[in-house]
Amino acid sequence: MHIERYDGDRDALRPLFALADDSSMQISSYIAQGEVLVARDGGRVVGHAQIIETGDGGVFELKSLAVRPARQSEGLGRALVAAAITRCRECGGRRLIVSTASADIGNLRFYQRQGFRMYRIVRDAFGPSTGYPEGLLVNGIPLCDQVVFERDLGAD
Ligand SMILES: CC(C)(COP(=O)(O)OP(=O)(O)OC[C@H]1O[C@@H](n2cnc3c(N)ncnc32)[C@H](O)[C@@H]1OP(=O)(O)O)[C@@H](O)C(=O)NCCC(=O)NCCS
Repeated sequence: MHIERYDGDRDALRPLFALADDSSMQISSYIAQGEVLVARDGGRVVGHAQIIETGDGGVFELKSLAVRPARQSEGLGRALVAAAITRCRECGGRRLIVSTASADIGNLRFYQRQGFRMYRIVRDAFGPSTGYPEGLLVNGIPLCDQVVFERDLGAD
């Protein structure tokens, strides 16, 4: 497995983006942005990480991250986050932010294991007005609020 910059057709990665975001409307709004790194195994893309500049000096966002279900829990997600951090540092990044649903307990654990700290909650970020189906449950919890994490890129 190796991780490299992806310069191909972004739409070919839509199934991976869809693992990370239940709103195709939202995905369409950002899929073409920033830079995408992919994990490849024998030429096949098995995971991706998208990083974008926020416009706030030195602050980057890990906008989308996913690993194919059959390849999860092998350390690929951790490796993609590490590669994204390295790339942001190369681009002068000082801080990396990432958002997930408060209902997604697995992701809350995953990002904290990668050194991220919570710093903001966005109430009602997910709902019909932002392109998410009404009544969606994650871990039995209604999908409505968003947790924003940050990681200082000066620290290892
Ligand atoms: C989140 C995701 C990228 C993690 O990738 P992964 O390759 O499975 O994760 P890793 O194998 O590198 O795991 C790293 C650590 O996170 C933990 N972890 C990963 N997914 C987890 C989950 N769903 N629940 C609890 N812990 C999890 C692992 O147990 C491991 O812990 P450790 O450091 O104690 O050993 C992957 O599960 C995924 O693609 N999920 C669907 C898309 C998604 O939700 N993306 C994020 C949107 S914000």
